[in-house]
Amino acid sequence: MPNKKIVVAIDGFSSCGKSTIAKRLAKEVGYIYVDTGAMYRAVGYFGIQNGIITDNAIDGERLRREIGNLRIAFRNVGDEQHTFLNGVDVEHRIRTLEVGNAASRVSTIDFVRQEMVRRQQEMGAAKGIVMDGRDIGTVVFPDAELKIFVDADAEVRARRRYNELTARGEKVDYRSVLDNVVERDYRDTHRKESPLLRAQDAKLLDNSSFDIELQQKVVMAWFEDAVRRSVS
Ligand code: DC
Repeated sequence: MPNKKIVVAIDGFSSCGKSTIAKRLAKEVGYIYVDTGAMYRAVGYFGIQNGIITDNAIDGERLRREIGNLRIAFRNVGDEQHTFLNGVDVEHRIRTLEVGNAASRVSTIDFVRQEMVRRQQEMGAAKGIVMDGRDIGTVVFPDAELKIFVDADAEVRARRRYNELTARGEKVDYRSVLDNVVERDYRDTHRKESPLLRAQDAKLLDNSSFDIELQQKVVMAWFEDAVRRSVS
């Protein structure tokens, strides 16, 4: 296969399995994987820890002052890629429902998005990257050679998220996880700043009843095709 590097943009709703697809593809083709949701989660986590985000308010002025100084990085820890905030491994701490909600709230703020998008564009400037999120194919890399939009039924996604959270020992009930998925879908698709939408040229992958091996085959075929088209 030609070895020209491309950008792969994977977008979709929360808990639809984007990151599994993205990580596997990146590993298989030797690309860098960037989980942009983790960046918004790191901002949300920082906000909670520092009293900038509370249940009913966000101190926008303080967040605006701090955002440029936040160091968010990804490093390998064993076999996994972890998120680091100001040099501290926060991978497990950012995966809670509480931080997910804070991330969803900060991701509606224009200056937060601008800062994250700028950093993401820098990370992908040399190509050879698989990035997943909500606005990668529409805003961050509108010229990405391969765009994939992943979807699955809300109930299927809530069940997956519930299993993940309980496996990690979080005490949650399925109903509140489902309510949370529906609430985040609404916020992600209705916010003013780059709402989640499918790019016109994105390939649709509905994985409600698709097993992961099959998905990977489909995605790999799309990838090879995109690389071939980018060199011709
Ligand atoms: O994919 P995730 O659940 O880790 O994302 C956390 C939140 O961040 C989610 O509510 C939407 C937001 N997000 C975003 O607005 N844009 C992105 N590119 C990635 C995530």
